[in-house]
Amino acid sequence: MMRHFLDLAPAGPDGLRAILDEAHRRKRLRAGWPKGQVDADAPLAGHVLGMIFEKPSTRTRFSFDMAIRQLGGSSIVSSAGEMQLGRGETIADTARVLSRMVDALMLRTSSHAKLDQLAEFATIPVINGLTDLTHPCQVLADIMTFEERAGRPVEGSTWGYVGDGNNMTNSLIEAASLLKFDLRVGVPHGMDPDAGIMATACARGGCIGLYHTPEEAMVGADVVVTDTWVSMGQKDSEAKMAACRPFQVNDALMARANRGAIFLHCLPAHRGDEVTDSVMDGPQSAIWDEAENRLHVQKAILLWCLDKIG
Ligand code: CP
Repeated sequence: MMRHFLDLAPAGPDGLRAILDEAHRRKRLRAGWPKGQVDADAPLAGHVLGMIFEKPSTRTRFSFDMAIRQLGGSSIVSSAGEMQLGRGETIADTARVLSRMVDALMLRTSSHAKLDQLAEFATIPVINGLTDLTHPCQVLADIMTFEERAGRPVEGSTWGYVGDGNNMTNSLIEAASLLKFDLRVGVPHGMDPDAGIMATACARGGCIGLYHTPEEAMVGADVVVTDTWVSMGQKDSEAKMAACRPFQVNDALMARANRGAIFLHCLPAHRGDEVTDSVMDGPQSAIWDEAENRLHVQKAILLWCLDKIG
């Protein structure tokens, strides 16, 4: 069976644990090495990752590119607009062609249906580099960061997410139900996360609370997470910004979480909107480790997709 990484659920708890353990292990093994040096076992030597971006990216683009290089392989990166995709060639035909040329594909797109279609017609693994619905690679990097800082597995911890109910929220909900941590989501009215993802996670036994105040999301939180209030491609609405304003992560809100809680943000951040400088740059912030961990997690995802682990 082809191992696509379109969302967290198909990998299941065992697959996700295998990916996280491998990310931790490889990070430890190459501590202090030059970034361009290939891992000693070069497990993906000779392999090529194709990446297609329909939306801007800094972290996803650089981390996947460095990931495949450190595993001994190489990459081809393209924006959809530079490809025949942008002139109407179908996703299905693109999938068929690129499957003959590269070993795995990563797509960043607005449309989750487009990602599903790429996977349907590809004969190589397809990875979700963010859609409007989910951002599974980012959430695994967040979990890795918590485990590194806390020195224990994510299971049994409590996370508080505040802000817009978006693709990050949806993937956190999925992750919480699979890896058995508690998630408290605080969003303004009308900005709830995806109802279908929430229902599936709860049916799976996930312990997920949905609130409409930021304070309720902070109760017992070991991790405080937020994201930009206006996602890529959305219109910057004054009404939305005003509704989100009480959900800003600032020192007062952080003080409501557990002592020693860490702060995470997938970045890019809008300093002064969803988070203050004092939290971003403060002692509880783990955002730079979180960004670096995108690289280590992408390596493990690639290895899982190509059947080298798990
Ligand atoms: N967090 C994240 O996906 O960053 P980029 O948009 O820079 O890839």
